[in-house]
Amino acid sequence: MANRKYIVGNWKMNGMREQLSDIKEIAEIAGQNNQVDVAICPPATLIAQAADNNPDFMIGAQDCHFAAKGAHTGCLSADMIREAGAIMTILGHSERRADQHETDAEIKAKAEAVHAAGLGAIICVGETEEERDAGQAVDIVCGQLEGSFPDKAEAAWLTIAYEPVWAIGTGRVPEASDVEEMHAAIRNKLGKLMGDGADAVRILYGGSMNGGNASELLAVPNVDGGLVGGASLTAEKFGPIIEAAAAA
Ligand code: PGA
Repeated sequence: MANRKYIVGNWKMNGMREQLSDIKEIAEIAGQNNQVDVAICPPATLIAQAADNNPDFMIGAQDCHFAAKGAHTGCLSADMIREAGAIMTILGHSERRADQHETDAEIKAKAEAVHAAGLGAIICVGETEEERDAGQAVDIVCGQLEGSFPDKAEAAWLTIAYEPVWAIGTGRVPEASDVEEMHAAIRNKLGKLMGDGADAVRILYGGSMNGGNASELLAVPNVDGGLVGGASLTAEKFGPIIEAAAAA
């Protein structure tokens, strides 16, 4: 049986209070397409207001620390983002793996902390263009998945996002056959890591998904949704992706 589609907007470092109205509009479209799970992960500064304004809509975070509290200037714990109103968080996005030098081991620890706090996690994996050109894409992605895979993983709280680094924010999208190959490899690896529950773990595709290509990407076997950056910032752009998922 196909998994319920999951469409997640990653706002990255975009969004001031003025953009809370965009979240409201997106939440309305999500409400009209309630056969799909839809979430927005705004910057942490907007989580509380976004969650308060839209009690029936899923708000997530973009990261959190693995420690429960302590001397970690500038960081937020899983309990803090939960208290603000997030119900899940993205972890290990390639921009954080590159800019903040996050390691697989840290991402695993973060996912375990997030689960202990009662939140969901979306763990991101993806190869660079050089790694793909060298024929290493599947090995790199499956290695990241294994290294960052949390203990006690269950589909109820864990989601994986495959995001080829070279497709993020570039307008370039892999061939459907390449997406199919990678998502099948991830599914197979999940089976080895967690056994029976693997089929129910949703595997999202991310990287330049938009209203024009969402239907094709969401029709690929083992693509259970999308992690969307640029095209999630307004209802005008994000709405068609939600609708494509509802029709998929
Ligand atoms: P993009 O970003 O949709 O702007 O390519 C996706 C992501 O980084 O999650």
